Amino acid sequence: MAVAARTPFIAGNWKMNLDHLRAVALVQKLNWTLKDAGHEAGSVEVGVFPPFTDLRTVQTLIDADKIAFALGAQDLSVHESGAYTGEVSGAFLAKLDCTYVIIGHSERRQYHHESDETIGAKAHAAIRHGLVPVICVGETAEDLETFGASAVPVGQLEVALEGLPAGSDIVVAYEPVWAIGSGQAATPEQAQEVCAKLRAVVAAKLGAEAAEKTRILYGGSVKSANIASFMREPDVDGALVGGASLVADEFAAIVRYQKHVGV
Ligand code: 13P
Repeated sequence: MAVAARTPFIAGNWKMNLDHLRAVALVQKLNWTLKDAGHEAGSVEVGVFPPFTDLRTVQTLIDADKIAFALGAQDLSVHESGAYTGEVSGAFLAKLDCTYVIIGHSERRQYHHESDETIGAKAHAAIRHGLVPVICVGETAEDLETFGASAVPVGQLEVALEGLPAGSDIVVAYEPVWAIGSGQAATPEQAQEVCAKLRAVVAAKLGAEAAEKTRILYGGSVKSANIASFMREPDVDGALVGGASLVADEFAAIVRYQKHVGV
């Protein structure tokens, strides 16, 4: 279900939440809630990113009930197969009909010490397997104070895109680390400023056409009350949502941002 033009993309990163049984309940409720609200599938792409152990179950549900959600994983290995205990190959994710895979999330950078180079290798691995990498970049509060908002994410994206073929299908997520789970989102103006700079990086590395079609998401304390203000910005094409993606009514309200008053 890869999308060619810049269809808005609202993606739910469940992180390490919900086992496969609870995953079914959430996906079903989200689907019903959007249907009841008259949401037009296709106007906004909806993505769910459950833990690895839920993927097969969610894939089966999406397939059986013809649910118009894209499926993604939260990480992948740089390797194809072999003696890498605990790792998951992009080949396995592709077999489960995953369209997307998140790479470079700040929680992987922080707790698993993933370097920009590792994230670049993961971007290559994703593309090799026909997966669209959702490449996360963002500055910490310290970075923000020292370098301003854009220098660190721009540098991270430059390394992540190094050597990828021109025109590669990617999604970029700008997630300021200080905004994740803090309840304190960036301002729409700041998100726009950084996302515009990230688009310029995509243009420089993958070509102008790729930059034009690449979705750049904002992530960090997105909720139904603030999503519309981000989506008004020209270079913000969607959101990567953490906590609020675990609550069907709230996530559905985020997906339906076009119906919010004043948009
Ligand atoms: P929150 O929406 O909970 O701030 O998390 C954002 C995030 O990290 C999504 O990847």
